Amino acid sequence: KQRVLTGITTTGTPHLGNYVGAIRPAIAASQDEGNQSFYFLADYHALIKCQDPEQVHQSTLEIAATWLALGLNTDNVVFYRQSDIHEIPELTWLLTCMTGKGLMNRAHAYKAAVDANRADGEDSDFGITMGLYSYPILMAADILMFNANMVPVGRDQMQHIEMARDIAQRFNHHYGEHFALPQAVVDDHVAVLQGLDGRKMSKSYGNTIPLFLAEKQLKKHINKIKTNLLEPGEPKDPDTSTVFQIWQAFATEVQAAEMRREFEEGIAWGEAKQRLFALIDGQIGEARERYHALLASPELIEEVLEKGAAKARAYSAPFMENLRHAVGIRKIC
Ligand code: TYM
Repeated sequence: KQRVLTGITTTGTPHLGNYVGAIRPAIAASQDEGNQSFYFLADYHALIKCQDPEQVHQSTLEIAATWLALGLNTDNVVFYRQSDIHEIPELTWLLTCMTGKGLMNRAHAYKAAVDANRADGEDSDFGITMGLYSYPILMAADILMFNANMVPVGRDQMQHIEMARDIAQRFNHHYGEHFALPQAVVDDHVAVLQGLDGRKMSKSYGNTIPLFLAEKQLKKHINKIKTNLLEPGEPKDPDTSTVFQIWQAFATEVQAAEMRREFEEGIAWGEAKQRLFALIDGQIGEARERYHALLASPELIEEVLEKGAAKARAYSAPFMENLRHAVGIRKIC
């Protein structure tokens, strides 16, 4: 069986990018009987970016409710909170001791923080924690702990999966074959979904469209998507349009081809946005209701997560024990 694994950082409200980049492909993969799926809430990762306890806690509930509302079947999937798996920080340390500092120097998130400091005339390491610096090692531990071979993610996470492979190879080379080598699974139709301002949709840019906004709010957000100043009737270029890109992420191929033609024929922006709203609302309207019902019963979510943690630890505890022997911190028997 193929092991599929993915996680979402619990720092905010899930947005359309998380949905099309990770949640939707992951739920589809979990319905394939040839796969065994591990999906989790990356709450240790959240602490890297967010030191507001209330926000981390609330986001954990929201992301859990999102997966469940979208139909994740927790009987067939191992669904858990990262921090419930105590072996993950332990494995992170073993991997940290096998990871070259040079590899971490090349991580995009770290490099972006250094570049931003330089642009602001600050010291290059200003405000950068060791958490941010070694983030890819924690992520490698998430993946390698469960020997995942397929990791559905958005394109922005590909470098991290490659780093997990590198780290796994180095460990395997030294201590013997313990880890499967993971592969990123990226949906080619989606690439990186753009946000309201045309940059990557991201919590850190504040340009997201949250997935389960109330209808009126969803409409309002869609109306805020930046467009160029073309009038109705003037041909519009679908390939540079955020409205079209988001349309394509939700539409069938036939619907996408039709909209492409309408763009070329000069559809009015207002009309295109109205149709985009209807398309998204039609696909997530029912899940939105389930989402709000779930958020009103956090104890149900907690129960699901505790069951998931027990299932996950049935894998992680013996696996970690084996690794302790492999590195010599327990006697080799
Ligand atoms: P995070 O929380 O930033 O994002 C969760 C998932 O959503 C995808 N995504 C997008 N996809 C398309 N377009 C976008 N605009 C967009 N924004 C986000 C991300 O690629 C990701 O798949 N470090 C990870 C979480 C993580 C993880 C893991 C993932 C921790 N451990 C192990 C996989 C395996 C992160 O911060 O994702």
